[in-house]
Amino acid sequence: MRSLIDILDLTVEEINELIDTANDIIANPKKYSEKCRGKKLATLFFEPSTRTRLSFEAAMYELGGSVMGFSEAQSSSAAKGESVADTAKTISCYADIIAMRHPKEGAPYVASINATIPVINAGDGGHNHPTQTLTDLLTIKREKGRFDNLTIGFCGDLKFGRTVHSLITALSRYNNIKVVLISPAELRLPSYVKKDVLEKNNMEYVETTDLESAMPDLDILYMTRVQRERFFNEEDYLRLKDSYILEPQKLKGAKADLSIMHPLPRVNEISVAIDDDPRACYFKQVLNGKFIRMALIMKLLEEAQK
Ligand code: NCD
Repeated sequence: MRSLIDILDLTVEEINELIDTANDIIANPKKYSEKCRGKKLATLFFEPSTRTRLSFEAAMYELGGSVMGFSEAQSSSAAKGESVADTAKTISCYADIIAMRHPKEGAPYVASINATIPVINAGDGGHNHPTQTLTDLLTIKREKGRFDNLTIGFCGDLKFGRTVHSLITALSRYNNIKVVLISPAELRLPSYVKKDVLEKNNMEYVETTDLESAMPDLDILYMTRVQRERFFNEEDYLRLKDSYILEPQKLKGAKADLSIMHPLPRVNEISVAIDDDPRACYFKQVLNGKFIRMALIMKLLEEAQK
């Protein structure tokens, strides 16, 4: 059964096809309104979410399908001690496809090897978030028109930010990508991502604590929130939470065609004064997320029928 656990589960060609489909949905939404009629999506969210869960639900409704699920672990049998494997086997009896978010890294993978229907990883702990990456890739394609020859700055919590880990992994398959890692020393990109992704693929990267000095080189600035829920103590979170706040004057040295991205939710790290800047892409990203999830659901359901 084909699932999506890690962004590398999809080939570059498949990602291009999903992007083409998403662009076609954007151009011709009516064409897709019956594609998943009679199919059911189960959203199993053991961790809070607004965009990811609701964009999966909106995606399935716009394909003519229906949705069931839960949005907190306390309202599921996990609260009674049920294993992820048993939950996955059970939901396979009711639904056609699962989107799962879980605080434990690897939980959606465990679900996928126990389910008899496709499982989509909607975020597992500080590990991966492949559908946010598809969203980000669609946004980069629409904004920049290419995946090669880009300098991308990742700023904020690079340690726990799963969207950063997945997007860097996805970008490792394109040419001449330069990565600028901007974070406080304690929130640097984990060494496993540096070794297994950046270094293994000979990607050019630098680490810095200084956003403003990095700014002039960037084609894309990917801001992130400090991931409070993954800190071991509140004091560290409070000390680090406002490490970077993007305000209009900090964009002085930036390129005129910079794309400012953020997976959202935003806390303080982008001033609302930036929202009207034509370089701000984060709300476009939200919309793109629904369309690429429509493309993904269709693809996995089609493959499941084969
Ligand atoms: C991200 C996540 O859940 O990892 N949100 C999202 O899905 N768009 C980023 C975050 O929570 O900071």
